[in-house]
Amino acid sequence: MMKLHIASDHAGYELKEIIKQRFADRCEWVDHGTFSSDSVDYPDYAHPLAEAVASEVDGCGILICGTGNGMAITANKHAGIRAALCWSHDIAALARQHNNANVLVMPARFIDADTAADLVDTFLSTPFEGGRHERRVQKINLR
Ligand code: RB5
Repeated sequence: MMKLHIASDHAGYELKEIIKQRFADRCEWVDHGTFSSDSVDYPDYAHPLAEAVASEVDGCGILICGTGNGMAITANKHAGIRAALCWSHDIAALARQHNNANVLVMPARFIDADTAADLVDTFLSTPFEGGRHERRVQKINLR
């Protein structure tokens, strides 16, 4: 079982629950909320998830909001977080292969549940390619 952090705002709540259920046999979820469809502010969920992922060696997580942008922008404020907004199979694969993304961000209002499940599966099963991409990923860090 792989330990995985997950969080959403109200726009991503339903998809978060679907993803948790679909991957229940593969993932041990640490759910940082939200826990209903009541309106909330995405940074209140992105920050705790980013802190949790950044505090672990090889931590990884999933963030979901309406467009994905609020979650991605917020999570990427944290050192060590590489949060990638993904909406297609190839973008999710490349986020792992080239960017060594450690947070998958999904736009709940623009993808269906099957696409989201494919993005999660791709994110979990695609390794970082390293090589020239390692140098580039290292250069992301602020000096
Ligand atoms: C909420 O309405 C929406 O703004 C939020 O889910 C997200 O899309 C923000 O980036």
